[in-house]
Amino acid sequence: MLASALRYSHQLIAEVVDEHDTVVDATMGNGHDTLFLAQHVPNGVVHSFDIQEQALEQTAVLLSKYSLTAEVALHHDGHENINTYIPHDTSVKAALFNLGYLPKSDKQIITKAQTTLTALNELVSRLALGGRIVIVAYYGHQDGKEELQAVTDFCQRLDQHQYQVLHYQFINQLNHPPILFCIERRN
Ligand SMILES: C[S@@+](CC[C@H](N)C(=O)[O-])C[C@H]1O[C@@H](n2cnc3c(N)ncnc32)[C@H](O)[C@@H]1O
Repeated sequence: MLASALRYSHQLIAEVVDEHDTVVDATMGNGHDTLFLAQHVPNGVVHSFDIQEQALEQTAVLLSKYSLTAEVALHHDGHENINTYIPHDTSVKAALFNLGYLPKSDKQIITKAQTTLTALNELVSRLALGGRIVIVAYYGHQDGKEELQAVTDFCQRLDQHQYQVLHYQFINQLNHPPILFCIERRN
């Protein structure tokens, strides 16, 4: 069976990360991706971002149920401020974005095109050789199409000699199934 965008996002990251890597969860939410990343870099570092206090609380509860050895930093801040927490010379092996709103919470709190682009620019410049940024875009909500377009444009403009970009989408499903992008640094 073909993998959902969500499952495929994890496969793409698991393929490239090693135990000592530094990785980023750009949209922490309930912490499922943070947990996944922490389990895959047992001697590495995970930086996770969210603007909602609730996300940090839920994530801390989730992580506490596991014996994790990775260093996990939960930042109550927007991913557009990655600069504040990850120095320019730190190479990031993988980053994950789940764009949209947190299910079962305030649907007005959504990721936005401008801040997503700022974060993508910062991460692309820190991406390790062979590293991947995976973006899963839920775009059925208000402003979702604008953000999807911005991400598409950003990915299409990346120099093909330096990055290759995958676009993964089910094209015969109703209700705006999420679309996945994977940016891989090749040079
Ligand atoms: C689709 S949810 C993420 C789901 C999450 N990956 C999980 O495993 O539960 C999107 C999240 O992005 C957060 N968000 C919105 N704008 C943000 C920003 N500028 N920086 C970081 N997180 C942001 C929202 O608060 C929300 O929790």
